[in-house]
This record gives sequence, C-alpha cells and structure tokens, in this order.
Amino acid sequence: MPASATTPPPSAAWPATSPTSRKLGRRCGRSERRCGVSLDFATRRSALSRRMVEIVSYADWHFAGVEALWEAVFQHDPPWNRAAVAIPAKLLVQPELFIVAETSGHVVGTIMAGYDGHRGWLYSVAVRPDHQRQGAGSRMLAEAERRLARAGCTKINLQVRTTNDGAAAFYRRHGYLEEQRVSMGKRLAGACPTQV
Ligand SMILES: CC(C)(COP(=O)(O)OP(=O)(O)OC[C@H]1O[C@@H](n2cnc3c(N)ncnc32)[C@H](O)[C@@H]1OP(=O)(O)O)[C@@H](O)C(=O)NCCC(=O)NCCS
Repeated sequence: MPASATTPPPSAAWPATSPTSRKLGRRCGRSERRCGVSLDFATRRSALSRRMVEIVSYADWHFAGVEALWEAVFQHDPPWNRAAVAIPAKLLVQPELFIVAETSGHVVGTIMAGYDGHRGWLYSVAVRPDHQRQGAGSRMLAEAERRLARAGCTKINLQVRTTNDGAAAFYRRHGYLEEQRVSMGKRLAGACPTQV
C-alpha cells in the first residue's frame, strides 16, 4: 500500500454505538434539560453525529474501514472497484481528492474525486448505513466540491445507477441535474498493473 499521511490506527470494527457517543448522549441530555430544550431522540442523535464526524483526507489507517464500508454499501460492485485495487490506484493520482468521513477513529463515509483538467468526477460516494441521513454525505460532497474548484474544475459529473433513487435524490438536493446522455465505458485490458 503506497504511503500517505499516517495517524495512530484505531480499531476498524463498527461499533453499533460507541462508548463516546453514549457518554456524549448522556451529557447532551442533561444540558438540554438544564436549558429547557426538548429535542426528540433522532434530532439529538443527528446533532451529535454532525458534531462528531470529521471530514479528512484519506490516510493509510483508514484502509480497513473503507474496505468494510464499500463491502457493505457496494455489495454488487465488480472486483476492480474493491478497496484492494481501487485505493492503491487512487493514491497514485490526486490522493488529496480521496475524502473520508470519520468519527471516533472509525470510517463512516468516503468520496473519491478526480479532476482531469476539463471535468471533475465523483466516485465511491458512500456513508455507512447507520450514519446516513445525518449530513455526512452532504459535508463530504461540499468538501469534494471545494477541493475540485480549488484545482480549477468548473463542472462535476457523476453516474448513478438508474435504480438508485436515494442517491439521485441526494445529488438533486445538492444542485446536480440529470443530463440526457448515454453512459458508455470500455475497459482497457492490462493498461494499469493495479487494475484487474
Ligand atoms: C447517497 C448517500 C451518500 C447520502 O449520504 P447521507 O449522509 O445519507 O446524506 P445526507 O444526510 O447528507 O442527506 C442530505 C439530503 O439528501 C437527500 N437524501 C439523502 N439520502 C436520501 C435518500 N435515501 N432518499 C431520499 N433523499 C435522500 C435528502 O434531501 C437529505 O436531507 P434530509 O435527510 O434532511 O431529507 C448515502 O445514502 C449512501 O451512502 N447511500 C448508499 C451508497 C450509494 O448509493 N452511493 C451513491 C453511489 S452513486
């Protein structure tokens, strides 16, 4: 695995609820009662999650968490999209456009972006199911757009499977419009040693 920024590696497992979030939940509940604010559980959990999730650049210690995330949300993806293939390849080209959402040392989301000098592209946009609809995807997308714009990109393209209504709604919410195009592709056998 090519080197990138390193941080002490935490466990890559997914806790259903981390001790930290349980503690924070209890603290938050107390302060809300003191302030006389009554928030329902979902709102409180979402507010906590927003506060705790950080949007950062990919680092080597994220590998296991990203691999687990992609296996969970992209179950039917072909082998060349797997972490073991896609991550080393991405780290060779614009690694600064590989964005991760993390909380308490656990990966909860990813976006791999790229800019080819003409258009920007987004790939592997994913948020762990237990963290979806809490703003992590929106925050990663905003960061990807910022980084692409900084690189000179003026338009971003992406592909969504026609059956993926949730993702399409997410992109629409952020100003992405459907364009009448036929998506085409061709695999170049043996073009890159890291691709299968
Ligand atoms: C698409 C995805 C990345 C969105 O991430 P997220 O963190 O859940 O999104 P956010 O919480 O930032 O959502 C922001 C808004 O987008 C829209 N949205 C997000 N997910 C949606 C869904 N499943 N259905 C309808 N609207 C959705 C909503 O307007 C939402 O605001 P709201 O929760 O206040 O209604 C996430 O659902 C995911 O990982 N899906 C599985 C993987 C996938 O399909 N990736 C896209 C490949 S192209």
